Amino acid sequence: MAIKTVIASGKGGVGKSTITKSLGLQLSEKGASTLLIDCDAGLSSLDIMLGVSEKVNFTWGDVAEERCSTADALMKISDNLTLLPSPKRPLTKDFPDIIKNLTEKLQDDYDYIFIDAPAGIGRGLHRAAAGADKALVVATADEVSVTGAGTVQKVLRENGIRESRLLINRYDVRAAKKGLLLTVDEIIDKTLVQLIGIVPEDKNIMYSTVSEKRLKTRKSDSAFLRIAGRISGKYIPLELSQLK
Ligand SMILES: Nc1ncnc2c1ncn2[C@@H]1O[C@H](COP(=O)(O)OP(=O)(O)OP(=O)(O)O)[C@@H](O)[C@H]1O
Ligand SMILES: [Mg+2]
Repeated sequence: MAIKTVIASGKGGVGKSTITKSLGLQLSEKGASTLLIDCDAGLSSLDIMLGVSEKVNFTWGDVAEERCSTADALMKISDNLTLLPSPKRPLTKDFPDIIKNLTEKLQDDYDYIFIDAPAGIGRGLHRAAAGADKALVVATADEVSVTGAGTVQKVLRENGIRESRLLINRYDVRAAKKGLLLTVDEIIDKTLVQLIGIVPEDKNIMYSTVSEKRLKTRKSDSAFLRIAGRISGKYIPLELSQLK
């Protein structure tokens, strides 16, 4: 049965979709059958980041409105990676249980299901979290993002998510050394969430999205590889000393 994880944040633009895509690529390349669900209704990202936006025929919005079957909406990206795209336009109705129903239906077909939530604590987060058992809470190392991550964590816990991990994204060691960013310890203290990993600031991530190609040399790849390893249950030390 799949491990179902929602990727959430308080503040927008902190890297949830990038992380969802990168973990999906890493785990599927290692042979794990992985489903990515884009939950950002009206603002889909994963189809664009994976270079398949022109090929999207149906989305989970069409499943909710009974225009197609679940199988019709699933897009095979590679041998082990599947995408369930998000509606391109805002939903006409709320459909609070659609992601829960879909993940319950699909959980036996995958090892991992990652649900890319919209930013914030609104209905979109509730819809996304209803399909998950666990959460990755994403923050960048600034006060607003970290405060938002703490708030999201509380909302997720109130919604029955028992296990959350914190992922710090876009960490710039040089800025941190100059005292321009919150330290890792400060971020953990403010969110009270256990850390799963730190992804460095890496401009190649953006080029990778723009070119729709996977750049294997980028420095964030090794961070995603380690985080994917931890998600799959391996013991991989955090190596925080490198950040000091
Ligand atoms: N580690 C990183 N280094 C540099 N740029 C990054 C990194 N992670 C993400 N980005 C860039 O940050 C921008 C926002 O990323 P992304 O769309 O994944 O965020 P998001 O949290 O999903 O946003 P939204 O809240 O709008 O859904 C993108 O341009 C992406 O390329
Ligand atoms: Mg996004």
